[in-house]
Amino acid sequence: MAGGVIVTFDVQAIRKQFPILSRAVHGKPLVYFDNAASAQKPDVVIDAMAGAMRNSYANVHRGLHTLANETTQAYETARGAVRRLINAASPDEIVFTKGGTEAINIVAAGLGASIKPGDEIVLSIMEHHSNIVPWHFLRERNGAVLKWVDTLADGSLDMVSLAKQLSPRTKMLALTHMSNVLGTVPDVKAAIAMAHEAGAQVLLDGCQAVVNLSVDVRDLDADFYVGTGHKLYGPTGIGFLYGKRERLEALPPFEGGGEMIETVSRDRVTYNAAPHRFEAGTPPIVEAIGLGAAIGWLEAQDRQAIHVHKQALLTRATEALRGVNGLRLHGTAAGKGPVLAFSIDGAHPHDLAQILDRQGVAIRAGHHCAQPLMSHLGVSATARASFALYNTEEEIDRFAEALSKARHMLS
Ligand SMILES: Cc1ncc(COP(=O)(O)O)c(C=O)c1O
Repeated sequence: MAGGVIVTFDVQAIRKQFPILSRAVHGKPLVYFDNAASAQKPDVVIDAMAGAMRNSYANVHRGLHTLANETTQAYETARGAVRRLINAASPDEIVFTKGGTEAINIVAAGLGASIKPGDEIVLSIMEHHSNIVPWHFLRERNGAVLKWVDTLADGSLDMVSLAKQLSPRTKMLALTHMSNVLGTVPDVKAAIAMAHEAGAQVLLDGCQAVVNLSVDVRDLDADFYVGTGHKLYGPTGIGFLYGKRERLEALPPFEGGGEMIETVSRDRVTYNAAPHRFEAGTPPIVEAIGLGAAIGWLEAQDRQAIHVHKQALLTRATEALRGVNGLRLHGTAAGKGPVLAFSIDGAHPHDLAQILDRQGVAIRAGHHCAQPLMSHLGVSATARASFALYNTEEEIDRFAEALSKARHMLS
């Protein structure tokens, strides 16, 4: 039972599929609460990657031999899995990238070709640096103006401020679908409608959202949507960029090299169609196959039960933290995801994280690549615990105990 809801989800059966969860840290069973930074990997993902290298490996798209064809098929099957995950209309709208960061850079650099001084990019104050710095490049290089949308006291997106910041000069609204610090899930559908009304395109940073929400890019009407593999129980080195077909077609290529061309001569080059136009060189083949396996594995789980489970963990942890003297929670908006950022009077987050680590509890401390948000909150860093489907209520209790020990040690 959790908060009156009967959870049918078998967390112990899930845990058995993640080999790392059985290890100890400093002689204590590991409690891994750094999932918003990167999640652990189930056997299916590890096996899919090892299997790809053991049994059927070659470069993709180039060969006329069996291994090349099999590997190409596995790679394209993974693209199909990403399509399903976000309900894109076609796999051709999915570009494999090396992560969320690269995906945003592809869009910002491509848009940069047409940005003129005074054109505006609207961002929220809770964006990750990956969804800020590529737009700063357009400010530095093209004279674009960055306009910022604030959050309200509970960490929700200020829709009134959004309406004020959008203008006929807005070229792009770049917005998180879930904050990696506050856990806030903005009403992105309404924000997209407002931006479209103003004539702007919208990029959603879904790096945190794809693992925690059910995403439908067509229902949202997003122009671009970005996700990353390593937070989705998949490997590092792989992410994706979704773009509506006509948006990707209008975007100039990012990197030049093999695979992204149609023809190359001494005087001229013509480009391949999307998505290959954005996948120059040998792509992260094994990583894409691993991501496909992670998505397939997630699809086989009861995602509604997972959601209920993670929300129960969030509720229990929130209640536990509210009991800690001098603790301030950052982000309490309704419908938030399973991320808890907090500060404790007189305790530096780095010290907290180190003391917790000695007790086997892994949390993150720092600015979380969100310095504009940190200054908005009036802090330079926070501690952060973030939960995944394999975490348990007992682990929350161990975390709360460890935290109260740390508090006493530091006060
Ligand atoms: C909200 C958000 N956006 C973007 C990123 C960057 O993604 P990647 O690590 O795949 O480049 C992260 C990762 O921490 C994130 O949390």
